[in-house]
Amino acid sequence: MQRGELEKRVAAVPVWYHTLDLGEGVVTPGYFDMRPFVGHFRFPTSMAGLSVVDVGTSNGQFAFHFERLGADRVIAVDLAHVLDHDFPDWYRRELQQRYSAAELARIDEEELEAGFSLAHEVFASKVEKRRCTVYELGDLMQGQFDVAYCSNLVQHLRDPVRALESIRRSLKPSGQFVFGCSCELSVENVSYAIFEGRIDPHITYWVPSREAAQRLCQMAGFVDVQWVGAFRFAPVPHPERVGTLAVLHARNRP
Ligand SMILES: C[S@@+](CC[C@H](N)C(=O)[O-])C[C@H]1O[C@@H](n2cnc3c(N)ncnc32)[C@H](O)[C@@H]1O
Repeated sequence: MQRGELEKRVAAVPVWYHTLDLGEGVVTPGYFDMRPFVGHFRFPTSMAGLSVVDVGTSNGQFAFHFERLGADRVIAVDLAHVLDHDFPDWYRRELQQRYSAAELARIDEEELEAGFSLAHEVFASKVEKRRCTVYELGDLMQGQFDVAYCSNLVQHLRDPVRALESIRRSLKPSGQFVFGCSCELSVENVSYAIFEGRIDPHITYWVPSREAAQRLCQMAGFVDVQWVGAFRFAPVPHPERVGTLAVLHARNRP
């Protein structure tokens, strides 16, 4: 695709979550620019021969990265509908009353499909998209993956243990989990979680401490849980909203 055409197509996508370099000098105006932080996740240098799932893929930056690392099969999981977010019931009902079915379908397309699908086309990607919740993944894709990646998602979930259990069940025995977790690091060596309990700007429930993030993985049945490190980052339009993302590695039970 030529640069002018690509620029027009990028501008026609109303919501970009990831800053993606699409080539031809065109970079998407992402809410987050995660490009400088990819090294913090310590992915294998080659994923040749591996089957990999990216849970909560958004515009797919990490799924496309795994494909570039040579993965045999990459599945990018995200919601089918914005109403499938783990909202409290009263808020889901409010959205249903505020928007018509047609408006909700437009929001689904803008937030959950448009950016990913343009990047997929531009990269001539073979990444496969699956539309389901993280809670459904373990039943739908039981025992299929060598590597599961999930980052920046569990703070948006009311039940992180069940979500991680589901991810674990999608792994092969001893499969690897790369977990990026919003973390609260002010008190060391204590297992606690801050309950943020807010809807705006994004639905947020629990933010665990370092100790709690490790125990979360253990409670979900992972073994060999390792703290890899943590980094601070902020949304591009809101540099003052700095958050901490922890990276943990773990394995499914043999
Ligand atoms: C904050 S973004 C993180 C994007 C990407 N994982 C990253 O680290 O850059 C969270 C993504 O998870 C998706 N998501 C939210 N709730 C989900 C759920 N219950 N199951 C699956 N995906 C969900 C959202 O639609 C969104 O694309």
